[in-house]
Amino acid sequence: MRKYSDLIGQTFDIPTKEFKIVNNELHFHKINLIEIIKIYGTPLRLSYLPKIAENIQYAEKIFNDAIRKNKYAGNYTYTYCTKSSHFRFIIEEVLSNGSHIETSSAYDISIVWSMFFSGNLSKSHYIICNGFKHSLYVQKVTELLNADFKNCLPILDNVHEIDYYRQNVLKDFKVGIRIAADEAPDSSFHTSRLGMQYNDIISFYKEKIEGTKAKLKMLHFFINTGINDTAYYWSELNRFIYKYCELKKICPDLDSFNIGGGFPVKNNLYCDYDYPYMAKQIIENIQWMCKKNHVPVPNIFTEFGNFTVGESGAILYSVMDQKVQNDKELWYMVNGSFITHIPDIWGSNEKYILLPVNRWNSPYHKVSLGGLTCDSMDYYDSERHTEEVFLPQYDKNETLHLGFFHTGAYQEALGGYGGIQHCLIPAPKHIIIDKDKNGNTRHKLFAPEQESSSMMKILGY
Ligand SMILES: Cc1ncc(COP(=O)(O)O)c(C=O)c1O
Repeated sequence: MRKYSDLIGQTFDIPTKEFKIVNNELHFHKINLIEIIKIYGTPLRLSYLPKIAENIQYAEKIFNDAIRKNKYAGNYTYTYCTKSSHFRFIIEEVLSNGSHIETSSAYDISIVWSMFFSGNLSKSHYIICNGFKHSLYVQKVTELLNADFKNCLPILDNVHEIDYYRQNVLKDFKVGIRIAADEAPDSSFHTSRLGMQYNDIISFYKEKIEGTKAKLKMLHFFINTGINDTAYYWSELNRFIYKYCELKKICPDLDSFNIGGGFPVKNNLYCDYDYPYMAKQIIENIQWMCKKNHVPVPNIFTEFGNFTVGESGAILYSVMDQKVQNDKELWYMVNGSFITHIPDIWGSNEKYILLPVNRWNSPYHKVSLGGLTCDSMDYYDSERHTEEVFLPQYDKNETLHLGFFHTGAYQEALGGYGGIQHCLIPAPKHIIIDKDKNGNTRHKLFAPEQESSSMMKILGY
C-alpha cells in the first residue's frame, strides 16, 4: 500500500522552508517534533519566536526594496496589531525587531505602559490607537498623550472622538482618521461600521481639526478581506489615496498613509502569494496617484497581525482512538478541541496546515478529526487544497501525533486562555521555542495545562 509520504510527495514539494521529514518524522524549523512531544506531551501549543523576527524583517525588506526601486520619497514603518496575540513574549519579540504598536482597546494601553516601564518601548514609538473608543479608552489615550508619547496617534473612528482630546490633551497632538471601507461585493453589508464616511472627511477636518491643537498626520484604512490582488482591493486603495491627495492639499501636517493589516500567512503547503509584487504594486499605485494630483507621497504604515505571529504558532495533538460510524466515515478522536483551541476552524471555517508528526511511512486513508467537546461542530475534515483530510492509519501500538501549523494569530484571543471553555476543556500546555545567541534552539514551558481548580474558582465553587 502507498505510504503517507508518497501522498504528500506527489502533491507538494516537501521539504519546504519550514517542514522536513527525517526518518518518517516531521521537523518544523529543524525541530524534531516527536522529541518535543516526548518531553512535554500533548495537547501542546507552541510559539516559535524566530519566525516573528523573520516575517517582520521580510516585510520591511520588500517595502523598502519597492521604495528604493521606485525612488519613492517616503518611508515605511512596521507596526504590530497587538490583538492578534497579546502575550508578553510576543510583544517583546516584536518590539525587539524594531516594530511599533497598534492598539485596539483601553486594555492594550496597560501593555504599552508595561513595555515602557520594562524599557522595551520608548516615548517615541508609534502607538497607533484604533477602534471605536469608549470613555476609558479615550482617557487612556489622553494619558499617553499628556505623558509625552509624542507618536501616540489616536485614529479617529467617528466625528465625536476628537472632542475629548481637544478638551483634555494639554499640548498639540497628532491624530489620524480612519476611512470606512466599502465591503467586498459578496459581503452581507455594504460599508464597514469602523471609521468615518468617505464623504464626511474633508468637512470634518475643516470643522474640527484645522487650526486646533490636533494635527492631522495620518489617513488610515483596513480592508477586512486582506491585501489581495483583486479589482476590489485596488479600487478601494485608489479611492483612499485619492482622499489622501484631496486632504493633503488643505492639510500640510498630513504625511502618512496607513494601509492596515491583511498580509496572509501560508495555510497550505503550496502558497503562491507574491508578497514582493503586492508591496511593489501598493507603492507604485500610491506614487502614481500622488503624482497625478501633484502632492508629495506619504510615508507608509502597516499593521500586520496574522502575518507577524500566525506562522510562529502550532498546536500538537495525539489521536486517542478511532471510531467507524458507518460505511463511509472514520473518525480520529484527538485529545483536544478545535472549538476551544483553534476556534477559527469552527467560527470562520479557517484552514490550517495539518500534518502528522510521525508514521509518515504508514499507509494512509481519509478521516475526519473529532474534538473533545460534545458539540457536533467540533471537527476538522477538509484541507485547503483537497477538501478532504488524509492521515496515516491508526495503530493502537504506535500513537499517531499530528500538528496544526501557523495557528499563532487570534486563536487564544478568540477561544480564551485559561478561562472557562466549552465542556471545560482546559487550555493546553504552552511552550516557547527560541534560539540562543549561537543560533541553537532552546525551549521552555510557558504555561502548564490549565487545572480544574482554576476553573472551579472562576465558576464560584
Ligand atoms: C485596524 C486593524 N489593523 C490591523 C489588523 C490586523 O489584520 P491582519 O491580522 O489581517 O493583518 C486588524 C484586524 O482585524 C484591524 O482591525
